[in-house]
Amino acid sequence: MMDYRYYLKEVLISEEQLQQRIVEIGAQISKDYSNSDSLLLICILRGGVLFLTDLMRHITIPHAIDFMAVSSYGMGGRESQGAVRIKMDLMTDIRDRDVLIVEDIVDSGHTLSSVMQLLSTRKPASLNICTLLDKEERREVEVPIRYRGFAIPNKFVFGYGLDLDELFRNLPFVGVVDLEKYDA
Ligand code: IMP
Ligand code: MG
Repeated sequence: MMDYRYYLKEVLISEEQLQQRIVEIGAQISKDYSNSDSLLLICILRGGVLFLTDLMRHITIPHAIDFMAVSSYGMGGRESQGAVRIKMDLMTDIRDRDVLIVEDIVDSGHTLSSVMQLLSTRKPASLNICTLLDKEERREVEVPIRYRGFAIPNKFVFGYGLDLDELFRNLPFVGVVDLEKYDA
């Protein structure tokens, strides 16, 4: 693997833009859930980690966090389809909790659609989605997104949680992958 600059075609969303938007979303969530005493943020590993940790710093009401890892059946790299398999389940009982799923990106929608179905069987008081990125044109199944950072074009992106072969999640911005340099 080369330095990230080798694979970077352009910066799509700068660190400043990300942080500014996250402040806004944090404020909105704090307002919307101000009457809740059971807010639980569920981060989908691993892509949602940077977004979660920055977002929770701007949520001013008491809340807990938990983590979940899923993988799609028949998934090769960036494509996903159909049902998901739980690779790591929550540690928290979500019954009667106000649950907010925190995700890096919604693409086809299959991942979050299955996660929503699965979690709703556990009878949370409410269940909503907060995603940083939304590739709208790629949607194959509808998912109800309550909070969205940015709508983005149908381009393969990395950084700020999103990886290229597990690397570069640490970049503070979201960049477009140069597909002439990287075989996605
Ligand atoms: P979905 O089930 O098709 O909505 O897929 C969502 C998952 O696909 C995300 O959680 C990401 O892991 C992955 N993904 C989709 N698009 C990209 C991308 O452009 N870069 C990196 N990962 C992506
Ligand atoms: Mg992911």
